[in-house]
Amino acid sequence: ADALKIGIAGLGTVGASLVRIIQQKSNELAVTCGRPITITAVSARDRARDRGIDLSAVTWFDRPEELAEKGEIDVFVELMGGAEGAANISVRTALQRGLHVVTANKALLAYHGVELATIAEEKGSLLNFEAAVAGGIPVIKALRESLTGNSVSRIYGIMNGTCNYILTKMEKEGLSFAECLKEAQRLGYAEADPAFDIEGNDTAHKLSILTTLAFGNQIAADDIYLEGITNISIEDIHAAAELGYRIKLLGVAQRTDTGIEQRVHPTMVPVDSVIAQVDGVTNAVAIESDVLGELLMVGPGAGGNATASSVLGDIADIAKSQPGAQRVPVLGHPAATLEPYRKAQ
Ligand code: NDP
Ligand code: HSE
Repeated sequence: ADALKIGIAGLGTVGASLVRIIQQKSNELAVTCGRPITITAVSARDRARDRGIDLSAVTWFDRPEELAEKGEIDVFVELMGGAEGAANISVRTALQRGLHVVTANKALLAYHGVELATIAEEKGSLLNFEAAVAGGIPVIKALRESLTGNSVSRIYGIMNGTCNYILTKMEKEGLSFAECLKEAQRLGYAEADPAFDIEGNDTAHKLSILTTLAFGNQIAADDIYLEGITNISIEDIHAAAELGYRIKLLGVAQRTDTGIEQRVHPTMVPVDSVIAQVDGVTNAVAIESDVLGELLMVGPGAGGNATASSVLGDIADIAKSQPGAQRVPVLGHPAATLEPYRKAQ
């Protein structure tokens, strides 16, 4: 089968992880995706930086717009970040060229998602963004696919790994807010400007995307009541614990009689609730709907590999769905090549 040619703009925490995984797993991906996945072109600001990945066989573009315009690719993967500038221009350019796009950029979607989706629909391109909300948790797929036919009444959860990491470390290790934030940045969890994390904007961006998928309204990121965790002190955390609560930064969207309510704020949750047990960089998203009832998804919410896992899933979906792919194995591997089951001794 023809290879799916991808161009990646952004080789930071997520981009470098994605390249590494695709290179390490190329043989297995060719089978599970129905065709090989080939990275043909990349873009980042600094060509000279050692990223610990092999880029010897790819074409380098200094400007991501050029990669979207001139790269010989089927899929443009945007992993730079930012609602405006290079990300906005290059994603738009790629879609207008009829390329498929995969992005992890919730800020871009929160402000331009409707326009970009309109271009994609007009051009017949796919715009996939699983990694934009809750990192490695497949919540977009759940809403777009698995819950088809459900009417959602409420979505809420922990949607920012950096904040949850900070609140957890402050409580369990007694570290200062500043120390915890620094560590979250070192681990690649935080946004390029961490104010987006700790002031709640990143959670609001994600919530606005989920709200649109769940309730069918236009994306309204600026209409969300917003309060981050910058004013939470270790004394607040201890006081909550004494009352039987833990403090979590929650995003909540629910249908009301007068419209959709959306809010992001630190919340005291009972210590014995499932959401209170979600620690560190882990995220949790609960979806309440009429047919299914309550679905709770918990998993890694940030970091290179967790995020690249979702990006790769989006790329794989495109690889499988486009003409030229081999038939996708029903059981994940071709049925005729399945090994005999060997029971553990
Ligand atoms: P990084 O800051 O680590 O990497 C950003 C990359 O984009 C860098 O390689 C940088 O180049 C490149 N870049 C930035 N601006 C430009 C530009 N104008 N032209 C060309 N290249 C540019 O970010 P992350 O990898 O952490 O995040 C990428 C995206 O994924 C963001 O949208 C983020 O919100 C999202 N995301 C991140 C998660 C995470 O856990 N980190 C989780 C989920 C989503 P250079 O390296 O040369 O500076
Ligand atoms: N900065 C974000 C977080 C990355 O900490 O959750 C994942 O979207």
